[in-house]
This record gives sequence, C-alpha cells and structure tokens, in this order.
Amino acid sequence: MSWTVEPMRPEELAVCAAIERHAPDPWTEAQLAEELSFEGARLFVVRRGDAIAGLAAFQLAADEASLNTVTIHPSFRRQGAARALLCGALEALKAEGAAVCFLEVRSRNTPALALYDALGFSRAGLRRRFFTNPPDDAIVMNRLL
Ligand SMILES: CC(C)(COP(=O)(O)OP(=O)(O)OC[C@H]1O[C@@H](n2cnc3c(N)ncnc32)[C@H](O)[C@@H]1OP(=O)(O)O)[C@@H](O)C(=O)NCCC(=O)NCCS
Repeated sequence: MSWTVEPMRPEELAVCAAIERHAPDPWTEAQLAEELSFEGARLFVVRRGDAIAGLAAFQLAADEASLNTVTIHPSFRRQGAARALLCGALEALKAEGAAVCFLEVRSRNTPALALYDALGFSRAGLRRRFFTNPPDDAIVMNRLL
C-alpha cells in the first residue's frame, strides 16, 4: 500500500503527539496545537490507509522553509515513510513559493543525517552545543527546492 501525505488536521493532534514521543526532542500535543495556529506553520502527516505513520512540521516565511520536526512511528520506519512525507511536503511548499529549505539536526542522529543526505540536503554549518538533554552539536543543512 502506498503513502499519502496531507496537511495535519486538529483532530489528529493527539495521535501525532503520541508519535512525537519517539523523537529525540519530542513536541507535546500543546506545542503542536500552538504551532498549528501559526500563520506560517505548515504541518503534514503521512499515512498508510487509515493509519498515521508520522508527521513533519515546517515554517514558511517568504521563500524560505524550515523543517522543525519529522518523526515516523517506530513500527513504520525503514519503509520509505519519511522519504514520502518530506518529498510530498517539500513539493507542496515549493508550490507555495518556497525556494530553499533549512534544518538543524543532532550531529549524532545517524538515521536522520542519512535521510537528509538521501534527499539531497547539503551540510551548511555547525552550531556547537545547540541541543540539550543530551547536549549535542547541530549540523545545519539546506536544499534548494
Ligand atoms: C529519521 C526518521 C524520520 C527516518 O524515517 P524512516 O521512515 O525510517 O525513513 P525512510 O524509510 O523514508 O528512509 C529514507 C532513507 O533515509 C535513510 N535512512 C533512514 N533511516 C535510516 C537508518 N536508521 N539508518 C541508515 N539510513 C537510514 C536511508 O537512506 C533511507 O533509504 P533506504 O531505506 O532506501 O536505504 C526516523 O528514524 C525517525 O522518526 N527518527 C526519530 C525522530 C528523528 O530523529 N527525527 C529527525 C529529527 S532532525
């Protein structure tokens, strides 16, 4: 069965927050709800059939998109869900005028770094000790859309 990518709906917040608990820096349901209310926020879910497999949250400002979180539930990992989610979301953002996408990723997050490399993101800088709990450097990456 293939993946579908759609904007997140308010009634999906609780499921998305439960998936977020599997992320290194999880967003709570309240944080996701607040984010969903922001004009520049663009949140997406990826589903297989009726099941939500993961979510991604972006901000769009002028022609710049930034990826703030992407999480796939462990039971759906390594099946192409994140690839489908980010490709679908980036297409939608490009159609809205985004020309570039930025992100920051923990330097020790090997799966995420491999994902972004596979999707054509380039390493643009390093922010030392940007992350806490546990402390980690951030690798700044970007990709033209
Ligand atoms: C990172 C994450 C989103 C990847 O989701 P996923 O659905 O498993 O990724 P996909 O199946 O779409 O993988 C696409 C490509 O990314 C790379 N990749 C993904 N996970 C990987 C892993 N664990 N090890 C090595 N490469 C990996 C591979 O190149 C993969 O292509 P392939 O399967 O053809 O080899 C997922 O592991 C996750 O939710 N992690 C916790 C949250 C997180 O760290 N988010 C990133 C915050 S910046």
